[in-house]
Amino acid sequence: MRLQNKIAVVTGAARGIGAAIAHRYAEEGARVVATDVSSAGEEVVAAITSKGGTAVFFQADVSKASEVQALLAFAKENYGVPTILCNNAAINIPGSVVETEEEVWDRTMKVNVKSMFLTSKYFLPEMIEAGGGSVVNMASANSFVAEPRLSAYVTSKGAIHMLTKQMALDFAADNVRVNCICPGWVDTTFNDAHADLFGGRDHVLKSIQDIQPIGRTIQPIEIANVAVFLASDESSAMTGSAVVVDGGLSAK
Ligand SMILES: NC(=O)c1ccc[n+]([C@@H]2O[C@H](COP(=O)([O-])OP(=O)(O)OC[C@H]3O[C@@H](n4cnc5c(N)ncnc54)[C@H](O)[C@@H]3O)[C@@H](O)[C@H]2O)c1
Repeated sequence: MRLQNKIAVVTGAARGIGAAIAHRYAEEGARVVATDVSSAGEEVVAAITSKGGTAVFFQADVSKASEVQALLAFAKENYGVPTILCNNAAINIPGSVVETEEEVWDRTMKVNVKSMFLTSKYFLPEMIEAGGGSVVNMASANSFVAEPRLSAYVTSKGAIHMLTKQMALDFAADNVRVNCICPGWVDTTFNDAHADLFGGRDHVLKSIQDIQPIGRTIQPIEIANVAVFLASDESSAMTGSAVVVDGGLSAK
C-alpha cells in the first residue's frame, strides 16, 4: 500500500492509461477521484469499488476553469484536499500545420496544456496548505522527438515537458513535486487516427520493431506503475523529471 492515506485526482480516467492509473492508485490505497469528460468513467469507478478500492467519478471537461473548480470542490467534499494530481487527459488529432484547422490547434492546446495549467492553478494552493503533494503530468516521447503529420499534438507534449520543469522550480520549497511521464506507443485507441494516415494501425504495427525497439506496444499498466512510483514517497527526491517509458523509441 504505497499510497495509503493519499487522495488522488486522475484526469482522463474513463479509459486507456488514465483508467489504468486510477485502478493502480486505488490498489495502492489511495482514495481516487476519477474524472473525465466522458461518463464512461462511471464504469471504471464501479470496477475499482467492486475490487474493494475507494473511488468516485466526477464528469468534467478539464479545459474549462469552472469545471476544474467544481472538480476540486467535489474532491474536497468526498475525501478532502487532493495531494496527488495526475494530469492525464488529452486529445490527439493528426495533421501537418497545413492540414490542421485553427480550431483543432486551439482545442489541442486547451485540452492538453491549458487543462494542466488550470488544475495546477486551483489545486496547488490547497495542496501546499495541506503540506504538499505530487503532480504527475502525462507528457510523451513526443516531448523529445517529433513525428510526421502530428503538429498540434507534439507541440502540446513539448509544452507539457517544460511546464513540468517550470512548476517544479516554483513549488519545490512548498514540498510539491512535479514530474512527467513520457510514454512511447501504448496499446490504446489514442493513436489510431494518426496510424490511419500511414496505412492503418495493423499495417503500422507490422513495423513496430523499427519504431519501438522492444518490438511491441506498451500496456497501460506499464505506464500506471510509473505513475504510482512518481505519486508515492519512493520518488521523494524527484522533481522536474521526465521519466521516459517508451520501449526504446527515443533511444535512436
Ligand atoms: N496511447 C499512447 O500511445 C500514448 C503515448 C504517449 C502519451 N500518451 C498520453 O497518455 C494520456 C492518455 O492517453 P490514452 O492513450 O489513454 O488515450 P485515451 O484516448 O484512451 O484516453 C484519454 C482520455 O481523456 C479524456 N479526455 C479528453 N478530453 C478531455 C477533457 N477535455 N476533459 C476531461 N477528459 C478528457 C477522454 O475522454 C479519454 O477518456 C494522454 O495524455 C496521451 O497524450 C499516450
